[in-house]
Amino acid sequence: MNASEPGSGRGAVLLALLEMNLSDEQAQHPVIRGLKTVCLCNNIKYRTIERAIHRGACTLSQVAACTGATTGHCGGSCTPDVQEMLAELAPQPVLSQTPPKPAASPDAWWIRKK
Ligand code: FES
Repeated sequence: MNASEPGSGRGAVLLALLEMNLSDEQAQHPVIRGLKTVCLCNNIKYRTIERAIHRGACTLSQVAACTGATTGHCGGSCTPDVQEMLAELAPQPVLSQTPPKPAASPDAWWIRKK
């Protein structure tokens, strides 16, 4: 391909990458995935939501408040995508913790009895 032809060079490579199947998340380079528009109503990109999650938004309402995603006129058709991002990127809460052990047995000799 001649470098002077239209559609050659880095711009053409970028266009080709953007035209790839954007639904295949595993095959996407992180930069390309970051450019994907998740919320079409408010034009919110993947990287904007990703940044909000990394800054501490860990629920759908927090992401909505930070970015405006899911609050558009369509009624939130991007909500499943945002929830998927939360499941993937947000820190998961610890569901089961063992109760803390008492510092010492109540019958220990060094505990003052009243
Ligand atoms: S696409 Fe996100 S609110 Fe409509």
